[in-house]
Amino acid sequence: MSKGTHRVAVVGGDGIGPEVTAEALKVIAAAGVSLDITSFDLGGARYLRDGEILSDSTLAELRMHDAILLGAVGTPDVPPGVIERGLLLKMRFELDLYINQRPFKGTAPGHTAPHDFVVVRENTEGPYVGEGGVLRKGTPHEVATQGSVNTARGVERCVRYAFELAASRQRKHLTLVHKTNVLTFAGDLWQRTLNQVAEDFPQVGTAYNHVDAACIYFVQDPHRYDVIVTDNLFGDILTDLGGAVSGGIGVASSANLNPARTGPSMFEPVHGSAPDIVGTGKANPVAAILSAAHMLEFLGESGAATRLRSACDAPVTGTTSQIGDEIAKRVAK
Ligand code: IPM
Ligand code: MN
Repeated sequence: MSKGTHRVAVVGGDGIGPEVTAEALKVIAAAGVSLDITSFDLGGARYLRDGEILSDSTLAELRMHDAILLGAVGTPDVPPGVIERGLLLKMRFELDLYINQRPFKGTAPGHTAPHDFVVVRENTEGPYVGEGGVLRKGTPHEVATQGSVNTARGVERCVRYAFELAASRQRKHLTLVHKTNVLTFAGDLWQRTLNQVAEDFPQVGTAYNHVDAACIYFVQDPHRYDVIVTDNLFGDILTDLGGAVSGGIGVASSANLNPARTGPSMFEPVHGSAPDIVGTGKANPVAAILSAAHMLEFLGESGAATRLRSACDAPVTGTTSQIGDEIAKRVAK
């Protein structure tokens, strides 16, 4: 096989991860893009086998690639947080993937008109940094603290990215979602940063919603949104809801981006490893295929990216591989 020009690290991961990733690769090949692929056996299964989660040498190998295509990681056989923090979050932090971009197009239940918005989730700070600790564990006097880190630089680069994205879109509108009425320190930093960066983007309209209100609007009035910018944890929660109102989590894609391109970006579906349906053919590969489309776009293959996205527009039913076959057929036309 001839080697492509883009070096892509593929981490199928656990559960349905490898199944949906195989379909994404099938569709990329059908689009005529040839990739130079290195597969990495990482995830819960690998950890249980030989203890490796993500060593420094593996991380160094990942850095040699232009992009990382990831399926899903996590298995019920490993306590919560071990693989998530040791693999997924480690990649996000170490590779400085400071933007998690999650687009939502679909028609929410009870609506007739489709919506089209994007959540820009800060991806390297907030409560995800793991600041905090525990005292007197297991006693009635146990104390657990979990901090949220928000840096001026981290918030600024995220908000600026969101403004740039909004400026490139037709509606040119950006909503900050936070909880400024309770998280007053972090909220104030986010709001002041938004106000400051807004001066560089006079063409972009802005709004603010509290995160609880945003949950109502996602369901009742998703059309109000164009681009949303929010912190790591609010973005995590909101994007599951975004998936639920946009055709389901099975079609929700995501891109963990290092826009400064100091290393590879990572592309993964929003959904997890879904161990309950592994091997049943029930996993929808569309989220993985749309994540792959974003990867192609980021690698400069915008023609192929557009073809992948259009091929996912009309609904497809069938098993995981039947859906992949059908989308591959549409892409090849
Ligand atoms: C996501 C996931 C991860 C997150 C988990 C698996 C650590 O839910 O990508 O949204 O919380 O970011
Ligand atoms: Mn999540």
